[in-house]
Amino acid sequence: MDKDDMRLETKATHVGQEPDPLTGSIVPPIYQTSTFVFPNVDEGAARFRGEKDGYIYTRLGNPTITALERSVSALENGEKGLAFASGMAAISSVIMAIVSAGDHIIADKCVYGCTFAFLTEILTRFGVSVDLIDCSDLEQVEKSVKPNTRIIYFETPANPTLKMVDMEGVVRIAKKNGITTVVDNTFMSPVFQRPIEWGVDVVVHSATKFLGGHGDLIAGVAVGRKEFMDHVAETTLKDIGGVLSPFDAWLVLRGIKTLPVRMRAAQGNAMVIARFLEQHQGVERVYYPGLSSHPQHELAKKQMYGFGSMISFELKGGFDAGKKLMDSVELCHLAVSLGETSTLVEHPASMTHSSMTPEAREAAGIADGLVRISVGLEHVDDLIADLSQALKKATGF
Ligand SMILES: Cc1ncc(COP(=O)(O)O)c(C=O)c1O
Repeated sequence: MDKDDMRLETKATHVGQEPDPLTGSIVPPIYQTSTFVFPNVDEGAARFRGEKDGYIYTRLGNPTITALERSVSALENGEKGLAFASGMAAISSVIMAIVSAGDHIIADKCVYGCTFAFLTEILTRFGVSVDLIDCSDLEQVEKSVKPNTRIIYFETPANPTLKMVDMEGVVRIAKKNGITTVVDNTFMSPVFQRPIEWGVDVVVHSATKFLGGHGDLIAGVAVGRKEFMDHVAETTLKDIGGVLSPFDAWLVLRGIKTLPVRMRAAQGNAMVIARFLEQHQGVERVYYPGLSSHPQHELAKKQMYGFGSMISFELKGGFDAGKKLMDSVELCHLAVSLGETSTLVEHPASMTHSSMTPEAREAAGIADGLVRISVGLEHVDDLIADLSQALKKATGF
């Protein structure tokens, strides 16, 4: 069957996951090698010139890494994928492959803390200007476009506020102005959202999260049009060198086989927990796209295939209550990261988004008392029991 005819679950199981043609090993091998032997000088030179296919050196390509790139690109319905040593390596390599000194980027003001730091502290040192706006407000997006704007960058839903951006609307503005759209799809994974289907140019992922799915690796992936991804491969990936190790590529591939079932199981738990939190007397506010109380619930239904398993919430007692809750959970782990089998709780203001100033966090809507939960695959009744006892200690309810 052609990969374009496969449904997502079939792609996750088969694309990039083909048995080894040499031995029949049903699990593709790990090509744990740094370099590849050339049969002769002419062949080696032809590969370097790009005249002949064939591997050269793992920073330039490796069969296990290629398999992962094919897998994620198929899942995202893109032309070509590239794997990186981390989500941040993917994000920085994609952006640096586009901009030069004097260029301008529009980015949402609510993005992952290190993305925020990369945009505002690193890129600006190289003469790139960045305007942080609310990309969910299309009028603001349109007004922020300058003649030198090269990229519109956002997360949807955003980490950690779960704010969504209307991809179709932003893409319309970007296309009119010749701007590249780059979207971080880490929170939804291609199971629940495929930005390329809305016309987005490049999708980036922290594959550390749902794609890997087991909390045992750091990796990143980007997917886009072949011509652009080839440019990234030949410039910022090759020459800055944020390359994924073959073993970690293999672990992500293994994780992807169960991605659809993991995403759906975690989402089922998250829906129950979001509803539980919403009706809990000690909880002030819950942010989850699957709740009809989410101000962008209709947009979530329009542009996503599910609502995911990330929830943020604020307790009535603010920061102190949130801290007490996080110190009181017993089954849930107090840890950053997300998208793994165990449920993780964390405090964005002091952890994942601590590289933002308090003013930047406030502008992004990240309250000091906000608690983020990445719902895992435990039995939901056990999770509710754990959260109930922690909420009681934290809020008295
Ligand atoms: C939404 C999002 N994007 C990117 C990253 C960075 O990914 P990595 O830690 O794999 O570099 C993270 C990490 O938490 C994230 O949450």
